[in-house]
Amino acid sequence: MANMMAVAFGTVAAAGVALAAFGPPGSRAPEAASASSSPATARPAAANIPPAAASAAALPATSPTPVAVTTVSGPAQTPWVIPDADKLPDDAWGRTVRYGRDLVAKTYALIGPEVADTAHRFAGNNLACASCHLEAGTKQYGLPFQGVYADFPNYRARSGAVGTIEDRIQGCMTRSMNGKPLPPAGPEMTALVAYMKFLSDGRLVGAPTPGRGAGRMTELTRAADPARGKEIYEQNCVACHGTNGLGQRVGEAGDAQGYTFPPLWGDDSFNDGAGMDRLIGAANFIHSNMPNGTTWQAPALSEQDAWDVGAYMQSQPRPQKANLDRDYPVALQRPADSGYGPYADSFSQQQHQLGPFAPIRARIKELLSQPSKAVTQ
Ligand code: HEC
Ligand code: HEC
Repeated sequence: MANMMAVAFGTVAAAGVALAAFGPPGSRAPEAASASSSPATARPAAANIPPAAASAAALPATSPTPVAVTTVSGPAQTPWVIPDADKLPDDAWGRTVRYGRDLVAKTYALIGPEVADTAHRFAGNNLACASCHLEAGTKQYGLPFQGVYADFPNYRARSGAVGTIEDRIQGCMTRSMNGKPLPPAGPEMTALVAYMKFLSDGRLVGAPTPGRGAGRMTELTRAADPARGKEIYEQNCVACHGTNGLGQRVGEAGDAQGYTFPPLWGDDSFNDGAGMDRLIGAANFIHSNMPNGTTWQAPALSEQDAWDVGAYMQSQPRPQKANLDRDYPVALQRPADSGYGPYADSFSQQQHQLGPFAPIRARIKELLSQPSKAVTQ
């Protein structure tokens, strides 16, 4: 209970900050299966108040003010706070946090492949971090950054090592952004980490942040079906992302202005080592957020349609990352939906890409219970 209460302390403004009462207690925690707590049945909450409307008053981020304390028994309803970086003073901290936010929102204009200053070309595509970390990384189940700062360093199965938040950002730079790492001690990295700290202010190390990630739908008991997904795509996605999946530029290629509607595949998309190229995360992201503007409380697609359209997206061509065979050095820690091997089990690559995943997990569990196999392969 102590933890829960502390988690409920917001940071940036007094009561009146965007506080979304969360649906049924415990619902949609990323680790919870959602069958009995479908978001559609959750009561609507004011979850996605735009940042501009979110903060009533400004206090220095370093003096957290309790904005809500939940004292109900049972799982606390965690408030969703969207701190407003514009309320920070015009000092070094405020400017750094705002630069971090701008890097998330307008990545293509600041560190993209078309920026005038060639020394600042770090991202390899013209996406923004916010193409996936929606609303500049503040949207519930839109891969937000709230709580993320409090969760690092942590053990990463993909690298087989404990990594920092900087390492995690580099992971998205080299995969989601198909680019190169940022200078580790440069102003961009400092600003991104500062922004994540700002968004995570008041969140306890080790406490869960419901609303983080993209949600977790019930899995299909069949393989996801890209052919059926193509039909879903044509009905629900082409209007923005285009028949060819290449999206729509704001202006013209070369102008560093990015996209009105980002590409889902092709040369200017995320590469095949990216988290968005794994079906479970992608399908949940689509279910909770697409068509753009959708919220997790009122998904537009059925769960089945989200799985199938995700599979269709992933069947399309995209940039390939070098050295993917070095990922997951502990083979039994490779997630069931990793689209590339080597796999420690004998399931096909296709089943790892499309599911069903439960049999794969069961087999991995079995292998892990055999001590001789529970080490690196
Ligand atoms: C193509 C989509 C996409 C883009 C673009 C993208 N990311 Fe990510 N990012 C993801 C996915 C998917 C995850 C995994 C989320 C999870 O593990 O639940 C992730 C995870 C993260 C995490 C860890 C989040 C957590 O909850 O632990 C950080 C930090 C992060 N990204 C930063 C960035 C930054 C900074 C940029 C821009 C430089 C960026 N990302 C661009 C898709 C993207
Ligand atoms: C109303 C327009 C619209 C529709 C319809 C739409 N999207 Fe999006 N989508 C967007 C926008 C805009 C973004 C980027 C969000 C941002 O920049 O704030 C996005 C981002 C994404 C992303 C992450 C970024 C990337 O480039 O990979 C995926 C994946 C995605 N959409 C998939 C889908 C799928 C699948 C459908 C159909 C079920 C769909 N979208 C329907 C507008 C739309």
